Amino acid sequence: MNSFTFYSPTKVIFGREAEKQAGEEIRSWGGSRVLVHFGGGSVRRSGLLDRVTASLEAAGLTCFLLGGVVPNPHLSLAREGIELCRREKIDFLLAVGGGSAIDSAKCIALGVPYEGDVWDFYVRKAEPTAALPVAAIPTLAAAGSETSSSSVITKEEGALKRGFNHALIRPRFTLMNPELLYTLPAYQTACGVTDIMMHTLERYFSPGGENEMTDRIAEALLRTVIQYGPVCVKEPENYQARSEIMWAGSLSHNHLTGLGRDGDWAAHQLEHELGGMYDVAHGAGLAAVWPAWARYVCRQDLLRFARFGANVWGIPLNYEHPEETASAAIARTERFFASIGMPVTLTGLLGRTPEEKELRELTVKCTFFGTRKIGGLMKLGEQEIFEIYQ
Ligand code: NZQ
Ligand code: ZN
Repeated sequence: MNSFTFYSPTKVIFGREAEKQAGEEIRSWGGSRVLVHFGGGSVRRSGLLDRVTASLEAAGLTCFLLGGVVPNPHLSLAREGIELCRREKIDFLLAVGGGSAIDSAKCIALGVPYEGDVWDFYVRKAEPTAALPVAAIPTLAAAGSETSSSSVITKEEGALKRGFNHALIRPRFTLMNPELLYTLPAYQTACGVTDIMMHTLERYFSPGGENEMTDRIAEALLRTVIQYGPVCVKEPENYQARSEIMWAGSLSHNHLTGLGRDGDWAAHQLEHELGGMYDVAHGAGLAAVWPAWARYVCRQDLLRFARFGANVWGIPLNYEHPEETASAAIARTERFFASIGMPVTLTGLLGRTPEEKELRELTVKCTFFGTRKIGGLMKLGEQEIFEIYQ
């Protein structure tokens, strides 16, 4: 087991009507002028926004609203939010919505006290020393942003999607009510299920050797998501299933399932370029690249892929030919993604076969214009990345 530091201080309040505690919680964290940040309208339609603002006002807080966050959230709206916060002397950010609203709030939180351009953090030109406090009321189980230290933002100019991690932007608290997920369409639910699985798979398939405690937590999480994910797709108002998936979403990305391992993250890096260029849903992009990635790299650690097949999918382990169990495990995962309505190729994702020049552009962007390799299990440079996209 590699040495590690585990620090996951987000306070989680989980259950029915959790959102009604927003006002009191923010007050207990010292907030008084609050920006409520949200997406394109689902929180208005569901009545959630009204409940949240009522809770804030009942606690004597001053409330400002900024909606309009799009999936693959844009830098331009975050910049608008930064200006608004400075002008109105906002001291607390509350994101209400999916990972995009939460990530955009984190970007605003970073930008307010920083004199330069907030994009500097996302391109590693600067390190933050301060940020406004952020909290989250997630309405989608997927990105895990409600407990993670990450923010992923797209700069429209150049269609560049970049992630940034820092302890300063980890939410102070999150109010998680599984009933808020009932209105999610089946496709969005399935994208979330895929993303949750991927946050653990990215950690599971990475260097780190034997690591039973973490591996077994990871396998239990994957089995739970495989059991309850399809139930959420078919029965959107099943409280038990939504609860299991919502909690799995947070645990899958607060690093619990990767302690003592390095993490791979190649599939996420491959997907981020797809999200930036084609504005596809993150989970769908991951489902489209993972099977190709897995088949490309599995020879690096066949036993691990075989173990995954045995412990997660219940495939009998062929000790003499672990490559057979490994290959069956990848095919089984691919069929699972397809069964919940996810694309498992780029052609399926885009609805057309991408041209070679598009794959070249994706590749160059994914290497950060020739300045990096990606992956942990296998280091992937320009040629390998291109072949996987292909
Ligand atoms: O904008 P609204 O109207 O709210 O609609 C959203 C949006 O269209 C809708 N939605 C959300 N909750 C709903 C709902 N519709 C009905 N009922 C509800 N309860 O769903 C659509 C997608 O929302 P979005 O926030 O974009 O989805 P998700 O939570 O999957 O977030 C995706 C973003 O998170 C990033 C992704 O790259 C992507 O940009 N990620 C963030 C991570 C992090 N911060 O730790 C890690 C992830 O790996 C990921 O990269
Ligand atoms: Zn993800």
